[in-house]
Amino acid sequence: MKYYDCVIIGGGAAGLMCAATAGFRGRSVAVLDHANKVGKKILMSGGGRCNFTNYDVSPENFISDNPHFCISALRRYTPYDFLALVQRYDLQYHEKALGQLFCDHKSKDILDILLAECDQAGVSIQTRCTIESIEQTDKGFTLATTNGGVQCESLVVATGGLSIPTMGATGFGYQIAKQFGLPVTEREAALVPFTLSGQWLEIARSLSGVSLPVTVECGEQRFAEALLFTHRGLSGPAILQISNYWHRQEAITIDFLPGESLADLLNQWRSDGQKTTLKNRLSRHLPKRFVETWLELPSFPSGLQDKPLAEWSRADMDALCEGFHRWQIVPPGTEGYRTAEVTRGGVDTQAVSSKTFEARAVPGLYFIGEVLDVTGWLGGYNFQWAWASGHCAGQVI
Ligand code: FDA
Repeated sequence: MKYYDCVIIGGGAAGLMCAATAGFRGRSVAVLDHANKVGKKILMSGGGRCNFTNYDVSPENFISDNPHFCISALRRYTPYDFLALVQRYDLQYHEKALGQLFCDHKSKDILDILLAECDQAGVSIQTRCTIESIEQTDKGFTLATTNGGVQCESLVVATGGLSIPTMGATGFGYQIAKQFGLPVTEREAALVPFTLSGQWLEIARSLSGVSLPVTVECGEQRFAEALLFTHRGLSGPAILQISNYWHRQEAITIDFLPGESLADLLNQWRSDGQKTTLKNRLSRHLPKRFVETWLELPSFPSGLQDKPLAEWSRADMDALCEGFHRWQIVPPGTEGYRTAEVTRGGVDTQAVSSKTFEARAVPGLYFIGEVLDVTGWLGGYNFQWAWASGHCAGQVI
């Protein structure tokens, strides 16, 4: 039986950050991961360039049944703390839109930094290690694993969410929570494309590859980013962002001409006397393929495209404005965990201390990162949550 002060289950973003932080405090730390290598999601993140944090992180960028939970850790470990770390390793990075920070070269640079930190902190990283059972003892925990028995004082669960099972994602963290009597909230695939069916699927297919700036709304939430039509439905940053807030049977509303007033444009076009078609006029503001397809929608009065603008009725104009500014659809579903970036929901944060990440009812047991019911927006927020929660737990375990 091996003994470590701290055992961390899961060598992802949160687990590695926590391990290094605790190791530097002089604690003996082991990271146990069932996958063949650690940090796989870091490697595949940000299109291979890891959007590792964001300049503008605030609690409003996170979703949780308990919205105050994330405040303390986000304050105690900020994006600038992570930047100080990567700058020590001379990481080359750049800001894309909206404060998002990406590696100039590859995601592996971030993983290499975390592994170097773990190495310096004396952390033992054990891959291909399956945890068979966990028992609480009077001194901490005893684990039976495929690498043999392990004892520890502090046990940290950093197993992440359910997205991309082929990358090693499992629901093991939720299982551990349930074993120790901690509640787990409903989980859903999030930061995920919507699938469509019927005529809308046909339309999306015919527009596959077309991308345009939109605003998209669901309930009170609204995002202004790009939408992408795909051969299966709707994707792009705007859609991924709103999927974080979407619940089944809910409608989303899309404005394809954000920041413009089609009613004003139509009035202007009616009065300027030029004979150009509506299609040509609109194609100056929107992708031509989109305009051609959208004007064929059955919801518009037939023959609208060819009718001279001067002959348009108020009802024609209203129908057109509605179809371009307030298109509503109830997506039949999402692509699910196969492609989702994150899991919304998780271990109920009411049962966990926001200062230490220790389960209130189980001394020595900690939960960090995505396994918790804290879900960030697209844009580096989920990694910032992993770094912040991992760091704060690493200071106390
Ligand atoms: P993470 O998933 O990183 O790690 C969990 C670890 O636990 C894994 O190593 C896994 O093998 C291990 N594990 C699971 N079950 C186990 C078991 N039963 N036994 C032992 N080990 C087990 N976020 C962001 O901020 N910017 C970005 O650019 C991206 N990009 C991105 C792209 C894609 C394709 C995905 C899927 C996700 C992102 N994300 C992202 C989200 C981000 O990757 C995610 O939120 C963090 O990796 C979560 O960190 P954790 O450490 O909590 O889990």
